[in-house]
Amino acid sequence: MCGIFAYLNYLTPKSRQEVLDLLVTGLKRLEYRGYDSTGVAIDSLDNKDIIMVKRTGKVKVLEDAIQEHFSGDDYSEPVLNHVGIAHTRWATHGVPCERNSHPQRSDDGNSFVVVHNGIITNYNDVKTFLAKKGYEFESDTDTEVFAKLVHHLWKKHPNYSFRELVEQAIQQVEGAFAIAVKSKHFPGECVASRRSSPLLVAIKTRTRLAGDHIPILYGKDDKKQSSDQDADSGKAVVLPRSDSTAEFMPLEEKEVEYFFASDASAVIEHTNRVIYLEDDDVAAVRDGTLSIHRLKKSLDDPHAREITTLKMEIQQIMKGNYDYFMQKEIFEQPESVVNTMRGRVRFDGTTIVLGGIKDYIPEIKRCRRLMLIGCGTSYHSAVATRQLLEELTELPVMVELASDFLDRNTPIFRDDVCFFISQSGETADTLMALRYCKQRGALIVGITNTVGSSICRESHCGVHINAGPEIGVASTKAYTSQFISLVMFALVMSEDRLSLQQRRLEILQALSKLADQIREVLKLDSKVQELAKDLYQHKSLLIMGRGYNFATCLEGALKVKELTYMHSEGIMAGELKHGPLALVDDSMPVLMIVLRDPVYVKCMNALQQVTSRKGCPVIICEEGDEETKAFSSRHLEIPRTVDCLQGILTVIPMQLLSYHIAVLRGCDVDCPRNLAKSVTVE
Ligand code: AGP
Repeated sequence: MCGIFAYLNYLTPKSRQEVLDLLVTGLKRLEYRGYDSTGVAIDSLDNKDIIMVKRTGKVKVLEDAIQEHFSGDDYSEPVLNHVGIAHTRWATHGVPCERNSHPQRSDDGNSFVVVHNGIITNYNDVKTFLAKKGYEFESDTDTEVFAKLVHHLWKKHPNYSFRELVEQAIQQVEGAFAIAVKSKHFPGECVASRRSSPLLVAIKTRTRLAGDHIPILYGKDDKKQSSDQDADSGKAVVLPRSDSTAEFMPLEEKEVEYFFASDASAVIEHTNRVIYLEDDDVAAVRDGTLSIHRLKKSLDDPHAREITTLKMEIQQIMKGNYDYFMQKEIFEQPESVVNTMRGRVRFDGTTIVLGGIKDYIPEIKRCRRLMLIGCGTSYHSAVATRQLLEELTELPVMVELASDFLDRNTPIFRDDVCFFISQSGETADTLMALRYCKQRGALIVGITNTVGSSICRESHCGVHINAGPEIGVASTKAYTSQFISLVMFALVMSEDRLSLQQRRLEILQALSKLADQIREVLKLDSKVQELAKDLYQHKSLLIMGRGYNFATCLEGALKVKELTYMHSEGIMAGELKHGPLALVDDSMPVLMIVLRDPVYVKCMNALQQVTSRKGCPVIICEEGDEETKAFSSRHLEIPRTVDCLQGILTVIPMQLLSYHIAVLRGCDVDCPRNLAKSVTVE
């Protein structure tokens, strides 16, 4: 998904070279989001023009191009106030190429340049309007219309401030966007805004800020609107005029640096003080002062945007001794699962406290049903825990893919409780489903890994999974932490059920051993790597299981597909005879999960069906289970745990396997082709 990074220094001397280095590093931190091209824009040496460098491919390619383009002493001259904007693009409109890369510009003279994440859905209408005004378009992007629209407004309203121009423009566009705009007519200023796509402003000062919040300035409701009539089409493009009289936010000290970024990983090495922008906020920096403006005040608007102090450390987003972020994240799971439980589960008793939802538990207990909604891996965490939730809450539990849920216009009622599970907290389908359920009066519970994300902010209550930053596009540690968060919720819901106490105790004891057991499973790494050598040249891999382990089959197959580009399918073992068995022969790679749980006999049955068709499956079984191991020469043994937590231990060999196959096949492990970490478009 596109990534935005912009940097502004004020009275903090920085050379253009340093600004470019900052921009490139910012883009590198956003690489994990997935992208196909990149670009930057800075001021020319005489400050009269804006220079853009854009490239298709990796940030490294851009970095080399920048080095070639900007060299010489002049670029190392310090400048007191400067704005640079940068972008990683994930193509939505127009193929990846330099012409379509961002920044996109308003005109040949680079008056206004824009970086954008999201989709402007009415770009065709705006384009037609602007074409009639004489604008010629050079890219296939929706973003270009925004740059040209700002330019058009500037020509029409020469006295407007930069912020007002952008404010006018965002009212003309529909869809999802996060934008940062730079202009040669407003040197040293930057304006940014968002609607449905994430964007934050980070602030770095030598001294303390005047407060821990930025007051929001509101424009007066427009009485005297100016309108830009398109005579030919008869269609009026209405431009409500903002009339804010409020002063900009004062800072104690003027030396300041600002960063605008799609997420915190791009800024954390510079500052931990960030403001998460809300939809339709317009953040502008002028003379080193940040103001956040909204055109209209709505009833539930707070008076200020809080400055959040990030707890994330730079080390958390660096690869350390690992070759890939994904590998690091797989191996972090003994710690990340503990972090998910930290301060919540008391192993010396039976109490679990989920601070973010505890006040809502009585309401949740009275609900009609629980709905768990997510996409991809997050959806699989719902599949993995559904059975336990049904058992411990004694409520009907529906598990839904967000996209399908929306397609069906699923009926939702006021007494439904809807869980939205998302690592990023920004997935467009999940966010849309959240808004759909919220409008219908359901209680909204967010299960996210990203503090300050849209899903976090728009939920009534929630559980932060505390897995730490997940950079690899393939979700690993977020899955196990989502899983545990939902298990903890089930335990909270059953706290006062006498008949369930024994079961709760058994689960709590198993949770206390989980980190060590994950460490045990991770020791299988070299064995899994050997297995990967057997499998990586095949075209397909079938993964079979049932009961508590069906989710591992789905998740394992998703990991194999996204990382290795091999076909893979998670098969419910109970469905084998209803079709998939026809795929099995002596050459089809099959992996089967057969654990000693209530469905063991049925799994053994499936195993026999496979081996009697000459299938030679890899078996994931419990340590020392000789009877099961006898069915194949290839097995991975995992420690015994309670049935409902098995999925956490069985998914780890699948994560390792997909990782090793991807490495052997020469795939880009952290950024698989065509995929993005955070899918902020529907
Ligand atoms: C998992 O490996 C995927 N990259 C993907 O399925 C992901 O889980 C999905 O896009 C949902 O993302 P979210 O958890 O950030 O909402």
